[in-house]
Amino acid sequence: VFLGASVLGIMGCEGPQSALDPAGRGAEQIAQLFWWLVAVNTFIWFLVVGLAVYASQIRPGAHLHRRAKLLIIGGGVIFPLIVLTAYLTYGLSLMPGLLKPAAPDNLQIAVSGEQWWWRVRYLSSSGEEVIELANEIRLPLGEPVNLFLDSPDVIHSFWVPALAGKVDMIPGRVSRLTLTATQIGVYRGVCAEYCGTAHALMKLDVVVMRPDVFAAWLARQGQPAAAPQQALAARGQELFLFAGCSACHTIRGTAADGQVGPDLTHVGSRLGLGAGTLPNKPAAFLRWIAHTEKVKPGVHMPAFGMLPEKDLRALAMFLEGLQ
Ligand code: CUA
Repeated sequence: VFLGASVLGIMGCEGPQSALDPAGRGAEQIAQLFWWLVAVNTFIWFLVVGLAVYASQIRPGAHLHRRAKLLIIGGGVIFPLIVLTAYLTYGLSLMPGLLKPAAPDNLQIAVSGEQWWWRVRYLSSSGEEVIELANEIRLPLGEPVNLFLDSPDVIHSFWVPALAGKVDMIPGRVSRLTLTATQIGVYRGVCAEYCGTAHALMKLDVVVMRPDVFAAWLARQGQPAAAPQQALAARGQELFLFAGCSACHTIRGTAADGQVGPDLTHVGSRLGLGAGTLPNKPAAFLRWIAHTEKVKPGVHMPAFGMLPEKDLRALAMFLEGLQ
């Protein structure tokens, strides 16, 4: 029953947010380590049960003393020493590969965990910022990428289980992580360290793309926002600039240059809203702007539900159009 339940449990471990369904170098090694542990520990479990049955059938006698001694020293000291040393050696042998940074001319991305979202900046090889986006990281398939992780407020933890192990983001310190994606797809990242009210709603999407598709995406993200075409969207832009949004958000190509919240230059092209709280659809966008606090309790962005419905629609349409 125990084994059956374990197998059933593990069968559920696939999908975009599973360390047992790896799509990156680091996660592959971690999954391998996990399966070794499962296999060896299952073997040990049977061995211990077997020995217990055997021991229960020994009749008291003169030779008991010697056998008991052998079992205690062998099972209590020597066997664990061998097994645990093997585990330790195996685990340590993986470390250099997991910690090895990618070449400096590979992609460099700075990710900052903030209450409660992810600021993502693609850097040039000299470390200058090229573009900024939020709650989404896109990677080219197969290329090792350097991530620089930090936080301006409290400790967060960057974890994309399908790609690599988790790394804490500590204020005042830059931690590094090398990601090498091995499968095209969309993977889910989470904050793995309790960081306040909306900790559980601090998610990010990692999109792994074919290198040429990635290059086209990156070039597009580097462009400033296009001017809105429809009248309603143009009205939305006006509201964005004068109703207060631009104090916190940047939209390159417009006068909005706030630094507090996410850069929204191409927000319409992202997969989610509110750090993965809502899908990026026009109706959801409207709901987000009007009721931030209901959708994501604790969020720092004020709700704009006091605006007339038409203005909310204009804002949502403008932002959704920022592809
Ligand atoms: Cu950020 Cu938990």
